[in-house]
Amino acid sequence: MCGIVGYIGDKLAQPVLFNCLARLEYRGYDSCGIALKGSRLRVYKDVGGVKELERTAPLLEGTAGIGHNRWATHGEPSQANAHPHCDCSGNIAVVHNGIISNFQQLRQQLTAEGHRFASQTDTEVIPHLIEKYYQGNLEAAVIMVLGDIKGSYAIIALVVGEDKLVVARKGSPLIIGLGDRDNLVASDVTAVLDYTDRVIYLEDGDIGVITANSVRVTNGGTEVSRQESRVRWMVEDAQKGGYEHFMLKEIHEQPRVIRDTLIGWGSLAESAVDLAAMCREAESMVMLACGTSYHAALIGKHIVEELIGIRVRAEPASEFNYCHPVLAKTAAMVITQSGETADTLKATQKLKAAGCKVLAITNVMGSSASRLADYTVYTRAGPEIGVAATKSFMAQLMVLYCLMLSSTDAKASRLADLMAGVRQLPEKAQQVLNNESRIEEYAHHLSGYDNAFFIGRGVNFPIALEGALKLKEISYIHAEGYAAGELKHGPFALLRKETPVIAILAHDNTYEAMLSNIKEVKARQSPVIALVEEGDKTVGKLADYVITVPQVAPLFSPVVNTVALQLLAYYAARERGCPIDTPRNLAKSVTVE
Ligand code: G6P
Repeated sequence: MCGIVGYIGDKLAQPVLFNCLARLEYRGYDSCGIALKGSRLRVYKDVGGVKELERTAPLLEGTAGIGHNRWATHGEPSQANAHPHCDCSGNIAVVHNGIISNFQQLRQQLTAEGHRFASQTDTEVIPHLIEKYYQGNLEAAVIMVLGDIKGSYAIIALVVGEDKLVVARKGSPLIIGLGDRDNLVASDVTAVLDYTDRVIYLEDGDIGVITANSVRVTNGGTEVSRQESRVRWMVEDAQKGGYEHFMLKEIHEQPRVIRDTLIGWGSLAESAVDLAAMCREAESMVMLACGTSYHAALIGKHIVEELIGIRVRAEPASEFNYCHPVLAKTAAMVITQSGETADTLKATQKLKAAGCKVLAITNVMGSSASRLADYTVYTRAGPEIGVAATKSFMAQLMVLYCLMLSSTDAKASRLADLMAGVRQLPEKAQQVLNNESRIEEYAHHLSGYDNAFFIGRGVNFPIALEGALKLKEISYIHAEGYAAGELKHGPFALLRKETPVIAILAHDNTYEAMLSNIKEVKARQSPVIALVEEGDKTVGKLADYVITVPQVAPLFSPVVNTVALQLLAYYAARERGCPIDTPRNLAKSVTVE
């Protein structure tokens, strides 16, 4: 989604804003812009990325300014629709993340009152409303505007003549970065890591007035004190560290992520106590999430059903919001890397309204999901910049394994085996990475096709979905994940020599059925790439290509299979020359329904 930044202090604002915007680029990247306050307001914006804009921008004076990366929702990507947006006088500038749902009506009113609009965006009503109410006090004007607008927003406003930024938050994330002689505002902490590790997370309804050396926050007309937090993430975590792409770096960080989760298991255990209590009282559980996190929920379903023994419904949050009454006595878990996905937040609200206790698994401290949920478990992925989720997914899986292993009443001998197995996972994931060059060869082969199917069963069915998602989102090869048994109920019509099938196997009760499925596919002439554990003697005779992964207990096979499929997608996309970290039309955090 869009990313917004603001700076006020003793430095030239322009380079700071560009730097922060570059760090936020993963949130949106179809157009961007900045507004600087010198003796007058200067705005520079265009379609394209931050680096392009930085290259072409004139030097704009000023030590206060705002900036925006856009991911279009209202109006196509164009210079006019790029933020910041201004009022008629050109003295007021605003950047906004979110959606103003009543903007049409406001626009009509303002137009009738003589305001002229330059864009098709919902945002543009805000600077015009500020202009309407402004009487020398930006904060007072913004408060009046907030009474008029409906929807979700994180806003930063700036006016010539006042040395301050006025910010407001409702439903979209906003943090304040505290400097020594300056302060910053941003959609998330990664934007400000170069300048400070001291941040304030704003709450819904907060309005902030920020100068170079002061921050004042009010909510509902009353001054409130918001605690300062230290960010654990390091600036290096948000840099490429010598890798060609963030995605490749993040894939390679996964052994570390797994290890960190295991090291932090002790602190997870407290949440496991809550979870175990939740499960004891519940007759069933729902696990809700979107995108890759939804695939983690699908794997979570298998883990819970196997280790805890209660029935789990895992669903996309976007669907859950429009069906099913929530049953009483349902334990609920939401999974969201960003903690800001609109559909997942809406599902959380629905669960809470039905009286369910909700446990959130998220990667972002202070995120909306963590505020809404009754319990929060933080994943230890560190900042993930590549739009395609990789290490955040791995961190989610690890939290699910650890939570459920802490809550299970499995037999001691079985538990001991699983505990031994889970401890080996960092090394097992590393072994897959050590096989990178072989996987790159298969990816080279795969990159020549336009369509592919991924098939799996049981705990590896969600891995087929995730493998296909990774491939399609970054390489633009059309890929579908299918439950292997379902392929014959339709997709068979599409199988031919030009349609490779990637088959994901584990040595569990699905293995024999998977072998049959591979034979059926081969009989339709489709090339088969099989993902199978080392030492398997059978699959090599059936498949055209075999990628081996280290042996692990079947319940943990998603870990090694995931790493292999991420590499497969990455190298296929690289071969096709795709913009891997910023795939077209996608955004890392989707804050609209
Ligand atoms: C977007 C991202 C995906 C992510 C999904 C859910 O679509 O591009 O990578 O899986 O949102 O995001 P969340 O932050 O809720 O995990």
